[in-house]
Amino acid sequence: MDPLTPARTGPDAPFTVLFDGREIRALPGQSIAAALWSSGVTAWRTTRGGGRPRGVFCGIGVCFDCLVTVDGRPNQRACLVPAVRGADVRTQRGTGHDDRHED
Ligand code: FES
Repeated sequence: MDPLTPARTGPDAPFTVLFDGREIRALPGQSIAAALWSSGVTAWRTTRGGGRPRGVFCGIGVCFDCLVTVDGRPNQRACLVPAVRGADVRTQRGTGHDDRHED
């Protein structure tokens, strides 16, 4: 075997997660942030004070700019939470607690 030839590498089959009610594609091992970025979504939170859009800033779980609501749980860091099949991901407004029971 040629050591410079990759040995059957590649991600497993893609799956979908919901983002604000629409399906987006994700790959096994991707974070929610990576799946959103791959789908062209760059902002999924609004700030408490001014309602300004936010997405990934640090990408390593430090800044908390990427907060998102996942399966009804607000304040999940999209850059750290793995995308899982069928997850219900929603834009988070403010603290995320006001829209906890909205549908
Ligand atoms: S982008 Fe900074 S915590 Fe997620």
